[in-house]
Amino acid sequence: MDQKMFNKQVNTEIIKVDLAGDDRDHLKELEALLKRPAEILSENGVVAFPTETVYGLGANALSDEAVGKIYEAKGRPSDNPLIVHISNIDMLKDLAMEVKDYAVVLMDAFWPGPITFVFKKRPNISGKVSGGLDTIAVRMPSHFIAIKLIEMSGKPIAAPSANLSGKPSPTSSRYVIEDLEGRVDCIIDGGDTEVGLESTVLDVTGDVPMILRPGKITQEEIAALVGECEIDNALKGDAINSEGVAKSPGMKYRHYAPEAEVQVIVGSSTEWIKAVYERMISQNNEALKVGVMSFDEDLEVLKRLLAQSHELNTRFVLLGVGSVKDMHQYGRCLFDCLRRFDEMKCDVVIARGVEDVGFGQAIMNRLKKASEGKVTRI
Ligand code: TXA
Ligand code: MG
Repeated sequence: MDQKMFNKQVNTEIIKVDLAGDDRDHLKELEALLKRPAEILSENGVVAFPTETVYGLGANALSDEAVGKIYEAKGRPSDNPLIVHISNIDMLKDLAMEVKDYAVVLMDAFWPGPITFVFKKRPNISGKVSGGLDTIAVRMPSHFIAIKLIEMSGKPIAAPSANLSGKPSPTSSRYVIEDLEGRVDCIIDGGDTEVGLESTVLDVTGDVPMILRPGKITQEEIAALVGECEIDNALKGDAINSEGVAKSPGMKYRHYAPEAEVQVIVGSSTEWIKAVYERMISQNNEALKVGVMSFDEDLEVLKRLLAQSHELNTRFVLLGVGSVKDMHQYGRCLFDCLRRFDEMKCDVVIARGVEDVGFGQAIMNRLKKASEGKVTRI
């Protein structure tokens, strides 16, 4: 759908929740703040809310009318299925048909948290929420606002990331407001999200769990608990439109795409700095605005090199993603940086690629998508 064609202006209520989740004294206050959004959800409206991964755009998963509003607000193709969010394990019974023993082990270990499980769905679940598939994706988030909101609405809540289709997932309410104000009934502003990348999506319908989308919970962590964990063929390699038919339909769309052309370079710090410096100097001649995203340590060296050769100028935008020692900080800032490069009208963004292991798999997956497979390994 052409996003510009969307002209239904909805009055969006914005509710700020500035409370600590672990403070019991705040419970009453939290319930008071969430009363209206919970009502909107039970009346089949749409509400954007924070989770520990990224912001979600929620609606009653059991109502086709409500789910239709999500697709409409996001401008999202309706064959792309949604994740259904629950606030307690009892809610799973009405959604999943079969839950394997190993899946129980994984749910015990990782729920509530940043992992989504794909089960065979119950026949009563509408094809609208599952994109016509016979499976359903379910997640129990750990964010206190998300859990409370679902609990108060009394419904399983379908929620994709709360961005316009094709934009990076929102990691702060500012981006949700930018994308969705006027298109949704309510936005809950609950600060920045902790993980910054969407949940791991794990297919647990087969004998061995299979990762359809890498996230905070890693292949290694899953295998350590249940012996084995595979990763979908479509996720292997640098090409994004691989031959294998993606089991997760979301994988076939261009996603997380900033306006700028993204180039990913993978290598040791020394090699990376050298390659990027050379690329910047050559692209500098073309008068392009070049964004660079890497670990703080790399950028310090790069800045020094550019300053020494009098090449440091306003056409370069350097954004740090934290220390090389803290991969999770990279995950936390990745989408934020991509959005900021766009705000600053960069033409090209050169990003630091990482090893495809552990949490690095999740980072590389998002970088491959953002760059449409433009990954150079040196
Ligand atoms: O962290 C997250 O998962 C966030 C927050 C809001 O919970 N949600 C999110 O939803 O990222 P969304 O819709 O942007 O991504 C859902 C992914 C898509 O790649 C979709 O194809 C996949 O999950 N998915 C959903 N249902 C599926 C199913 N039945 N089988 C396979 N993949 C499925
Ligand atoms: Mg999304």
